[in-house]
Amino acid sequence: MALKILLVDPDDEWLFEAKKYFEDLLYEVKMVTNGKDAQLALYNDKFFSVVMNVEVQNHAGLQVLKFIKTNYPSQNVLMITEVSEEQDEEDQMTVEKLKKMGATEAIEKPFKFDDLKGLLEGHQSVGDMVAGIPRRKELGPEEEVNESDDTFTRVKISEFYSSQPVLFDIFIKLKSGRYVKILHAGDALDKDRIDKYKNEKNVEYFYFHKKDLFKFVKYNNYFAKKVIESKKAPTNKKIKLLQNVSEKFLEQSFEEGLKPQIIDQGKEIAENMFSLIQQQEDLFSILRSYQDFDPNAFTHAYLVSLFSTSIIQQFEWQSKTTIESTSFACFFHDIGKMQLPKELLHKKVMEMNDEELAQYKEHPELGYQLLDGKNTIFTSVKQIVLQHHEAYDGSGFPFGKRGSKIFTLANIVGLADAFTHIVQEQELKPVEALKILLKDQNLMKQYNSRIVENLINVFVDPEKIAKDNKLPSNSRVVNKKVS
Ligand SMILES: [Fe+2]
Ligand SMILES: [Fe+2]
Repeated sequence: MALKILLVDPDDEWLFEAKKYFEDLLYEVKMVTNGKDAQLALYNDKFFSVVMNVEVQNHAGLQVLKFIKTNYPSQNVLMITEVSEEQDEEDQMTVEKLKKMGATEAIEKPFKFDDLKGLLEGHQSVGDMVAGIPRRKELGPEEEVNESDDTFTRVKISEFYSSQPVLFDIFIKLKSGRYVKILHAGDALDKDRIDKYKNEKNVEYFYFHKKDLFKFVKYNNYFAKKVIESKKAPTNKKIKLLQNVSEKFLEQSFEEGLKPQIIDQGKEIAENMFSLIQQQEDLFSILRSYQDFDPNAFTHAYLVSLFSTSIIQQFEWQSKTTIESTSFACFFHDIGKMQLPKELLHKKVMEMNDEELAQYKEHPELGYQLLDGKNTIFTSVKQIVLQHHEAYDGSGFPFGKRGSKIFTLANIVGLADAFTHIVQEQELKPVEALKILLKDQNLMKQYNSRIVENLINVFVDPEKIAKDNKLPSNSRVVNKKVS
């Protein structure tokens, strides 16, 4: 059964446009132009959400909002408002005021339909999403389409998990700009059809529209949670699943910005990260030889998150909140780079001239500013982003803080970041990368020795250190074991 929404707006033209937009997204839409009809519709039917313009008359929008909150307190209501400069501040119906009055969400004009869609999706549970897809009796036909490559994102077939029925259209790519829709939203996930492409035609990736990223992330996060909780599932699979969902989540946040519904997904991923690293022993033996050298920024952020939280897990003071907020911070540690010139992103720090270097060094503060206004994001997250390039010996930036003046979690992320760079750039297994890291005396001075110690604890079998005796003795753990 499709999810129903009730659109309430005095403007017919807008209503028809909105109806078409939401029907394309498989919602069932009812529209009314006044408050009285809205109340009547609510009396007669159930809606996933009411999308209502505060300007609606006969009954006025605010009156209807009050009616809904009194009679159907759990009803999701999305209010649309317009704030004009000419009005007195007191009379302006701002987003904050509407939320205080009980609106689940509110949005200010002008906005795009996509923004509305995001707000609605943010409140859908996985159950709502699955229920909202009209099921088809038979598989839809395969269809060739011409569409720009920018509208698609892809995922390896072997790493594609979906509900029954599939939540959105799935394509394979023929060539640039040309795709075949192989499954329609609502089709059963047909194994034969998938195997045909995988085995007979050697197709490696499925493609889907970027506008469906939210559904992908939400579903896969839910699926990852189940798998991570299961005792039987192999740890490899858990790590990969979480990587998959983290990368798509990051892709979406870089596409669309840090909207509240996206932040919520990030927090859920961080919770899954916490559950994953809780399962210590087996996880760490796998991490030792973990191999994922894809140098892209999304994989990078995931690995930094995985390694940072694994380090924290070694500390006695660790807690669920600390691990989750650090995991979240890691996803965005370099978000400030989005505001730097593109050419700079592909350059190595060593290759930058003075001016470029100065620009590059602004990224922690730029990132901090991006997060600063969001009051749902913890202060610790913001501080990690701001301080992840500070160094224990005072040689870091932006402030050149020293020693204990540096936020410990930021120093942990800094180390995990440096470590991940070695893993990815030199294509090394973590244990190999660790040897290189520990030999770099300059780098080692930048981190608190306890943090370094705990990185070693994560990856290296202490008995092996004693045997090899190859690691430099710049950490107490190494000293202890070696001597
Ligand atoms: Fe950075
Ligand atoms: Fe980084």
